[in-house]
Amino acid sequence: MVVEPRVKDFICTTAHPVGCAENVKKQIEYIKSKGKVEGAKKVLVIGASTGYGLASRIAVAFGYGADTLGVMFEKESNGRRTATAGFYNTRAFEEEAHKAGLYAKSINGDAFSLEVKQQVIDTIKSDMGKIDMIVYSLAAPRRTTPDGTKYTSVLKTVGSEYTNKTLLLKDNSIAEAHISAANEEEINATIKVMGGEDWIDWMQALTDAGVLADEVTTVAYSYIGPKITFPIYAEGSIGMAKKDVYKSCDIINERFSNIKAKVAINKALVTQSSSAIPVVPLYITLLYKEMKAKGLHEGCIEQMQRLFMDKILDDSKVDENGFIRMDDWEMRDDIQEVVAKKWDEVTTENVAELADIDGYWEEFYQMFGFKIDGVDYSADVDIM
Ligand code: NAI
Repeated sequence: MVVEPRVKDFICTTAHPVGCAENVKKQIEYIKSKGKVEGAKKVLVIGASTGYGLASRIAVAFGYGADTLGVMFEKESNGRRTATAGFYNTRAFEEEAHKAGLYAKSINGDAFSLEVKQQVIDTIKSDMGKIDMIVYSLAAPRRTTPDGTKYTSVLKTVGSEYTNKTLLLKDNSIAEAHISAANEEEINATIKVMGGEDWIDWMQALTDAGVLADEVTTVAYSYIGPKITFPIYAEGSIGMAKKDVYKSCDIINERFSNIKAKVAINKALVTQSSSAIPVVPLYITLLYKEMKAKGLHEGCIEQMQRLFMDKILDDSKVDENGFIRMDDWEMRDDIQEVVAKKWDEVTTENVAELADIDGYWEEFYQMFGFKIDGVDYSADVDIM
């Protein structure tokens, strides 16, 4: 069939298999162009199919030459609907990795479940021996814990409600977003889903199964950002979950003598998860405009190239809290001053001029395999 984008709110409900494959190939080419370094040899990536996790997997496979096992939660095609982008991305990644002589397998299932943890352990035992790196890059809306309790995360403020500008993605206009304050139950649920408990559970399960090498590095991702987004991000319900990730990082470092746990604070980027957060897409469009003007813009793959080929390999490349700062360029004073000024000025009338709306949408469509150079979108493709 001919696959076209079908955008609904902040999600595209179709994905283009050829475009997704092309996207993955381009990311691989980027990593290859930067050369190889000595790093981990066998890597488990949890949340490996899109965004930062996919870019991490590509970086370690083609930058270290690592064998990779990926975990993701994606939908296959049923013959009428396309599969999700992460499904096509993963298939393309595996094909390219195999061509390069690298081991690559993926497990499509719920990373929070005991069953998927066991499948991962069995696969490591039968195929890989022991692993020496775990990337934890889950972004999930809900979690069922092993006792059957279901938790749903919320994107709300903590304390008092908050109003600020937002970009309405349906027509690129500027409106006011009113974000209500999360109650205690919602905050706790968000911590359960996006906090660090499951990261610790993974380390425990892998340790108990005896599938970890003598020296292991694990990394989880977070975001801090500027004051404009504090109420909805760093000081909002998701921020509470991220604080739990920081605590969990310390717990892992204390509890497991062979594991070095790190947190990387990444740059704000268009991904399926970030598009869903109110206020943040407007900030991203203003940020992109300024970072592109200064030649500092990076996507997921450029960020992960810098992380894995450089910063994660050197324990001294951390801030005073021990965080790896991949948002170093985003948070530069000269960037943030311009973004803050434009934030005050931006309206529906001038947003196309002040913000990188086109760049936002380009990256948005590309996440689903659309608007990629060299792909014939009028051609029939096999969506299976
Ligand atoms: P994403 O939505 O692109 O990727 C999420 C991944 O998690 C996908 O591979 C998906 O299949 C997988 N996943 C979701 N639920 C799952 C489940 N139950 N079981 C197995 N796999 C599951 O998200 P993104 O943006 O790459 O986020 C990854 C991490 O990076 C998150 O911790 C996020 O907070 C963090 N981060 C994101 C930033 C951004 O601007 N996008 C900035 C800084 C940090």
